[in-house]
Amino acid sequence: MSTASEQQVADPYFQELFADRIGGSQYGKSTEIYKFEKIKRAKRKALETHPDRQLLDFGIGENDAMADESVRQVMANEVNQPENRGYADNGVAEYKEAAARFMKRHFDVSLNPATQINHCIGSKPAYAMLPAVFINPGDVTLMTVPGYPVAGTHTRYYGGEVFRLPLLAENDFLPDLDSIPDDIYRRAKLLVLNYPNSPTGRLAPPEFFEKVVALAKEKQFVVVHDAAHILLTFDGQPRSFLQTPGAMDVGVEVHSMSKGYDMIGWRMGFVAGHERIVSAFADVKDNSDSGQFIATQKAAAAALDDDSIPTRINAKYRRRMEKLVAVLNECGFECEMPGGTYFLYTPSPKGTESGETFDKAEDATRFLIEQLGIVTVPWDDAGAYLRFSVTYVAESEADEDALMSETKQRLLNAKFVS
Ligand SMILES: Cc1ncc(COP(=O)(O)O)c(C=O)c1O
Repeated sequence: MSTASEQQVADPYFQELFADRIGGSQYGKSTEIYKFEKIKRAKRKALETHPDRQLLDFGIGENDAMADESVRQVMANEVNQPENRGYADNGVAEYKEAAARFMKRHFDVSLNPATQINHCIGSKPAYAMLPAVFINPGDVTLMTVPGYPVAGTHTRYYGGEVFRLPLLAENDFLPDLDSIPDDIYRRAKLLVLNYPNSPTGRLAPPEFFEKVVALAKEKQFVVVHDAAHILLTFDGQPRSFLQTPGAMDVGVEVHSMSKGYDMIGWRMGFVAGHERIVSAFADVKDNSDSGQFIATQKAAAAALDDDSIPTRINAKYRRRMEKLVAVLNECGFECEMPGGTYFLYTPSPKGTESGETFDKAEDATRFLIEQLGIVTVPWDDAGAYLRFSVTYVAESEADEDALMSETKQRLLNAKFVS
């Protein structure tokens, strides 16, 4: 075993060279264990202690099915076409045109595919790049919490600051835009929103989006709307931010093929909205990557043109969500059908009748995994909540029902106190 000082000596010569944004000379030395690593460890422990007990995994945040067979067929064909072999740069017209048709059909939003749409290699990199378009040191990005953190991380990389807007039940999980101090508004350049919201599952009413457009014009910031889960809307028709009058003047919406088309690993999405923002994004992107494989873009275009695919995926996750909500309500949880996403975000139990107490959602998660073999994800950023995902693996509806009945039995045995 080497001592701490020997380990210090063993640091590579470039240890001191790491940039401050990733921890500087302390990079790689943190002993802090992150949420998902803790879950992984608890799962391992649960499997060791109860090797015969099936883990009921509601922790996975990824679609459980492959992309539709028709899309895989297009890919199989396009992969053999010589004209698809090269750099795709900022993307092929086929995909942008399919995206424009998609936006028109689903949301009645008209976009010029040549100037108002640009593809991205999944939506995650778009959130990494958009801060480069706007953020100088000292500028502010307004971000909802809990949420998808990538735009905030990159804001900080550019010397900007993140102002956190908690999503609370008492505000219907909408950020309180009136609570933002004037000093923050003066420095704010970006507001990042996401509805249907991950992880809370809530939708934004049209009036909220209208207020956002008015505020963006008044306070002069740019809106980035994350529409990753838009096709997994369960309450009414999916709503695009770009449907809001004036939205096209103040921002962009970022779409993803991942959730609504079972295409998580394919890495495709698009940024749509104000032409000048789309072109600035395309400039940064052009200096960062050389575009997604053209065969993938063409397969994704075929997916966008086939509405039966997201309709089927929506129906499956809606059915699973209805079953989960019913079971949890029978087991002492208080939850309702989310407006969208495949996540159920529900207040974490406070403990059990037998005397366990949970100060945080993280404690409840550990108990659920270790004692019951039920995996969830804790959120302690704005209240204590558990996230159940309905992306568990089940081949048939009968398998879903069996998994639900096992879940119910284990949860009832634990006798949770809310
Ligand atoms: C809210 C939200 N935005 C964006 C993403 C990124 O999706 P992708 O990069 O697969 O398009 C995710 C994925 O988990 C998400 O949940």
